[in-house]
Amino acid sequence: MSLVNTKKMLNKACNEGYAVGAFNVNNMEIIQSVVQAANELSSPLILQASMGARKYAGTTYLKKLVEAAESESNIPIALHLDHGESFEACKECIDSGFTSVMIDGSSLEYSKNVEITRKVVKYAHKYNVSVEAELGSLSGIEDEVKITKENSFYTDPDQAADFVKKTNVDSLAIAIGTSHGAYKFKPNQTPKLRFDILEKIQKKIPSFPLVLHGASTILPEYINEINHYGGSIQNALGIPEEELKKAAKMSISKINIDSDLRLAMTASIRKYLFQHPNKFDPREYLSEAKTSIKSLVKNKIQNVLGCAYKI
Ligand code: G3H
Ligand code: 13P
Ligand code: ZN
Repeated sequence: MSLVNTKKMLNKACNEGYAVGAFNVNNMEIIQSVVQAANELSSPLILQASMGARKYAGTTYLKKLVEAAESESNIPIALHLDHGESFEACKECIDSGFTSVMIDGSSLEYSKNVEITRKVVKYAHKYNVSVEAELGSLSGIEDEVKITKENSFYTDPDQAADFVKKTNVDSLAIAIGTSHGAYKFKPNQTPKLRFDILEKIQKKIPSFPLVLHGASTILPEYINEINHYGGSIQNALGIPEEELKKAAKMSISKINIDSDLRLAMTASIRKYLFQHPNKFDPREYLSEAKTSIKSLVKNKIQNVLGCAYKI
C-alpha cells in the first residue's frame, strides 16, 4: 500500500462514530512507535508535520521516514501538513508527496480564509490531496501557533456551513474549547467542551468530517513522572478522555495529538537517565521513549478514539 489521502478514512469515521488519530511527528523514533501502535491495532492513521517539524527534521526526511514506516505496515496512512501557513507551504508539501494538507486561515478575515482555502483546494484536488481548513480560533500558545486569549472565539455554525459550501474543503477544524499545548484550562476551571456548538455545526453540515485540534489529555501520570524525576511542570491541564470519546462518537472524525506524545517521551527519558546516571547511549533512553509512545498511542486508538480494527 502507498500513502493515502484522508478523504475515505475521515468520511468512514464520521459515518461510523469514531475518530482517526492524527499524531504530530518530528523524528524517526516518534514515527516508528506511532506506526507500530496503529499497525498492531489495524487502525487507519494520520501522521502530521507542523512547520516546526519541517524546520527541525526537514520535509524530505519526514517524507522518507514516513514512507519507510508505511512500507512495513498494513494500514492506510496519510501524511498531512499541520497548520499550513500559506498557499506556498501547502504547494511545497503537495509537490513533495504529502497526501493531505491543512491551510490554516483561521486568523484571517472570513472572506480571506475562504479565498485562500479555495485556492489550496483547487490545487490539491488536482493531485488527489485532501484539504483541511480551520474556522474559529483556539486559544493557547504553541511554538509556532500563537493566538492570544482575547482573540479566541468559537466556530459559528452558520459560517461553518457557508464555508464548506464555498470552499469545497474536505474537513474542517472547529473551535469548541480546546487549545494547543499543556495549559488548556486555568487550574480552577472545569475542563469542558462546548458540545452545544458541536451539535449545531453537525446539524448544519451532516456527515461532514470535523477536526479537533489541541486535543491532548495531558495525562497526570506523565506530569507526575516528569516532576518526580527532576522536571517542573505546574498547572498543566488537558481535555478529559470522556469528553474526547463523546466528541469522537459525534462528527469529530480527526483528533490531533502532539503534547501527550511530548510528555510521554520526556517522562520516560527523564526517568531512565535519573535511574541510570552512568548511561549515555541514546539508543537506550530512546528505546524507553519508543515503548512509552507506543503504549500511549495504543491506548488512545483503542480506548479513546475507538478506531482500532477499522480498516
Ligand atoms: O498545532 C501545534 C502542534 O502541536 C505543533 O507544534 O509547531 O511546536 O511543532 P509545533
Ligand atoms: P495538543 O497540543 O493538544 O497535542 O494539540 C496538537 C494539535 O492540535 C496539532 O495540530
Ligand atoms: Zn493544531
